[in-house]
Amino acid sequence: MLIETGRHGQQVVLTLNRPDKLNALSYELIDELMDRLNALERDDSVRCLVLTGQGEKAFSAGADIAGFAPDVAASPEAAWRNFVMRGQALTRRLENYPKPIIAAVNGIAFGGGCEIMEACSLAIAAGHARFAKPEIRLGFPPPFGGTQRLPRHIGRKRANEMILTGDAISAEEALLLGLVNHVVPAHELLPACLQMADRIAESSAVAVTASLRAVTRGLNVSIDEGLAIEAAQFMIAVASQDAREGTAAFVEKRRPVFCHH
Ligand code: COA
Repeated sequence: MLIETGRHGQQVVLTLNRPDKLNALSYELIDELMDRLNALERDDSVRCLVLTGQGEKAFSAGADIAGFAPDVAASPEAAWRNFVMRGQALTRRLENYPKPIIAAVNGIAFGGGCEIMEACSLAIAAGHARFAKPEIRLGFPPPFGGTQRLPRHIGRKRANEMILTGDAISAEEALLLGLVNHVVPAHELLPACLQMADRIAESSAVAVTASLRAVTRGLNVSIDEGLAIEAAQFMIAVASQDAREGTAAFVEKRRPVFCHH
């Protein structure tokens, strides 16, 4: 199994499971992760996902270089179809996923590993985690959305420094740049992610999905279009039983009981 699945109450931990190759993203691993995401999307008993890497060394050292090298050698079309399209599809899927996905960055997040972390809705890093965009040293720009998401997250000049030098930054630097939400000691990483997931799961699932969609879809459009997206997502959430329950519970000074769990 290239993706390990662990259940913790309403949460699921997905573990990239190729520790001998620093959890490099082979085509097979990407395909398996996509299948798992599809299945978990349909499972209403699952509220949040945590994505992490097997072992203490790496979250993921990026796309599997030995795996995609034959496609790069074959033709730009083969590289685009098999490598770039697959990786971009994965990061778009993670970014647009209707449930929160928390990246538990347990070590190296390089190349595609950094790009999948960027695409997740939230991220917590272990103190020894490191982040880099080493693609430039292989002779091409980051291809799984890294040239687009990173500048939106941390600003153009700081993104350019990472993309053009390929140099790694520490977890503390990533925190300062806003690339991760928190940095915790390694042994607290999974508990911290699950605690955040449980906290999110206290709220209405409909409201959580509507909020995620409003933020993700609104981020790359004009403010007027973004406000229209926000209004549309509000309308979806406010039509739910949970919205009536949430507001009634406040007025009646009691804890809400949301039905979408
Ligand atoms: N693709 C395929 N295999 C990878 C890999 C990747 N992205 N990253 C690491 N591996 C493999 C190594 O080939 C090695 O396999 P082997 O033991 O069969 O030789 C194993 O994982 C361990 O890696 P190693 O390089 O020995 O570890 P290290 O601690 O010396 O170095 C890195 C760690 C991350 C600095 C180094 O592995 C590296 O530079 N990886 C590539 C990062 C990269 O360019 N990612 C972007 C890809 S687009």
